Amino acid sequence: MTALLDALRDQFPVLDQTVHGKRLVYLDNAATVQRPLPVLHAMDTFYRESNANVHRGVHLLSQRATDQFEAARVTISRFINARFSHEIIFTKGCTEAINLVAHSWGGANLRPGDEVLLSHGEHHANIVPWQLIAERTGAVIRPIPLHDSGELDLEALRAMLSDRVKLVGVKHVCNALGTIHPIEEIVRMAKSVGALVLVDGAQSLANVDVDVQALGVDFYSMSGHKAYGPMGVGALYGREELLNAMPPYQGGGDMIRTVSFEKTTFNDLPNKFEPGTPNVAGVIGLAAALDWVAGLDSASIKAHKQSLLDHATEELNRIEGVKIIGTAAQKAPVVSFVTDFAHPHDLGTIFDQHGVAIRAGHHCCMPLMKRFGVPGTARASFAVYNTNQDIIVLIEALRAAREIFA
Ligand code: ALA
Repeated sequence: MTALLDALRDQFPVLDQTVHGKRLVYLDNAATVQRPLPVLHAMDTFYRESNANVHRGVHLLSQRATDQFEAARVTISRFINARFSHEIIFTKGCTEAINLVAHSWGGANLRPGDEVLLSHGEHHANIVPWQLIAERTGAVIRPIPLHDSGELDLEALRAMLSDRVKLVGVKHVCNALGTIHPIEEIVRMAKSVGALVLVDGAQSLANVDVDVQALGVDFYSMSGHKAYGPMGVGALYGREELLNAMPPYQGGGDMIRTVSFEKTTFNDLPNKFEPGTPNVAGVIGLAAALDWVAGLDSASIKAHKQSLLDHATEELNRIEGVKIIGTAAQKAPVVSFVTDFAHPHDLGTIFDQHGVAIRAGHHCCMPLMKRFGVPGTARASFAVYNTNQDIIVLIEALRAAREIFA
């Protein structure tokens, strides 16, 4: 594994630097991961050799750009095992994908008194769009409780289900605590009352296997930059029949078939939901990232990330005054913790002086923080390129912080 890891790390030029005179230890991967050389290369090559607008030109460059753009759609659809590539809608991120569902599907289908159930651990991107649409439609949002471990209370969910529930929304992997939720079981329960299921997969593509057909989900939102791809690009998977029945979310070029001042007709999937010039280089970079992930030895990588999680958990549990928030049996490599000697932001600042980058705060999950009675946590999150040495430095930094504050 050491040789494999060294080779992997060599593909991430950004890691090879010092911060405040110390080796950079990048543990903020749940906020954004770094990109490997093949992703940087794919985007650079696009701009150097093929840059043109897609779906519009008759010239060679435009055809080349269109071919690469549509090939990327196929790559992503295969990566998550969608039935059709036109079930993949490119967006500017996971947040826009959820907004698309809330506004298009929710706006057309939710009625006063209908219920949308969201896990108490959702991040703001899977709460606020539903609140906005609930205000317009009269629908009601109800949080599904969590156990103290950070796992979803499935019995509570069962008790909340009724024919009023039209959609259940849940993260696949919790960004703040790392919990991996049992999506298949949640889907089975939701389907028993005819509710749709939207899974927020912001953290998923880099951390868990995703098969949208096996999971049985209706919508699955994805982020590029949390899957070794570029920022500013993401995607929505939606079942064909649902997407076909939904009205457009935004209007503009490419999403239309004909436009007149009397009446506009709309394009087929996926274009119906992709107005304007898309982030072509971003989409190509995202496909390169997924190809790169698919080329890794998945069993070794999973074992490596699990061992990082176990190592960090064990070391944190040994330090007096430290409490880990989120102890689910199934976790992505994320440790969130609080201490009785320092505020998470102070820890983050001290860690930075040691070269260690973590995230401190509410992780865009204020209701979750409230549920656990904390203002925020310090969060270390790991990616394929992290090492046990990174954890040793993290723990040294935490012990140094304890010396200062305790
Ligand atoms: N939601 C992102 C995070 O967890 C930004 O850090």
